[in-house]
Amino acid sequence: MPGLFFDSILTCPVCGQQQVCRIPYDDRLDSFYCKGCECKITVSGDQCCIFCAFGSQKCLVSQSWEKLEQKQMIEKMKDHVHKTEKKIIPALGYDFLTAWYDATIRITMPERKFRNLLVDHLNPANGEHILEFGFGTAANLLIAAKKAPNSHFTGLDIDPKIREIAKHKLTKNSLSITLNLYDGTTFPFESNSFDKVVSCLVFHHLDKEAKLRSLKEIHRVLKPGGKLVIGDWGQAKSRMMRMAFYLVQVLDGFKTTNDNVKGLLPEYIQESGFSDVQEVDHINTKIGSFCYYTGDK
Ligand SMILES: C[S@@+](CC[C@H](N)C(=O)[O-])C[C@H]1O[C@@H](n2cnc3c(N)ncnc32)[C@H](O)[C@@H]1O
Repeated sequence: MPGLFFDSILTCPVCGQQQVCRIPYDDRLDSFYCKGCECKITVSGDQCCIFCAFGSQKCLVSQSWEKLEQKQMIEKMKDHVHKTEKKIIPALGYDFLTAWYDATIRITMPERKFRNLLVDHLNPANGEHILEFGFGTAANLLIAAKKAPNSHFTGLDIDPKIREIAKHKLTKNSLSITLNLYDGTTFPFESNSFDKVVSCLVFHHLDKEAKLRSLKEIHRVLKPGGKLVIGDWGQAKSRMMRMAFYLVQVLDGFKTTNDNVKGLLPEYIQESGFSDVQEVDHINTKIGSFCYYTGDK
């Protein structure tokens, strides 16, 4: 997470002794022992935590809120200048971070586990035509195409920069998969073209309107009886998971991620015409609850 500080210098309010302390990403500390006077220092009722009360750097949640306020100001200014430009939301929120996408996912998430579980739920069969909506760096396509060499995979994304990374990885693995780009509105496919559509970590980048528009397009291009499988951030399964997810929200924006963490994705999937919509699985990660949803056309 760019711009966040993970160490803070705590100053004892009794003796003035200073000590460096690591800021936990998954816990709120309300007391510490001073190494100088050995007093137990506790925060008062109206204070957030020891870092916000006595630290040179505030806790990660407070830092994140401050970053969000700065980001919102920058976005307002950008919006004003670029109102008419087409908006591409890069994989990590900022264009310059795209090259670091794979490394970031590897560090912050149990990558092998969540991607394999996604492909297990997709369960690609011989001869099936399968679309990945928002293929990113082709990490899921690589796993799925290796597991199911007799399925026919296609990708769709909005970002030409990430497509170059994906193409390079597919070529390196001797895989030939067509990776399409579009402008974020109508999918460049005929109705009833695919047996299955899979999407991973895309919907939390889309606002409500784009979520519904994309789901309706997915429904259109699926064959009758076709299946949708989504893996994305969902309703937090504990208070800790909710706290952790603030870090994702600061990076990716509250406007698009709030619906996910409120657990609204299944509602939107149903509203777009799908039946038998279910949350079929979840994994708690260091940065939030990652959920799997399915729906049938
Ligand atoms: C966080 S990345 C996820 C990539 C990949 N699915 C994965 O599991 O690693 C989000 C991806 O969604 C793409 N994206 C964003 N908005 C999109 C849209 N409206 N339609 C299609 N793709 C979109 C981005 O370009 C990016 O590749």
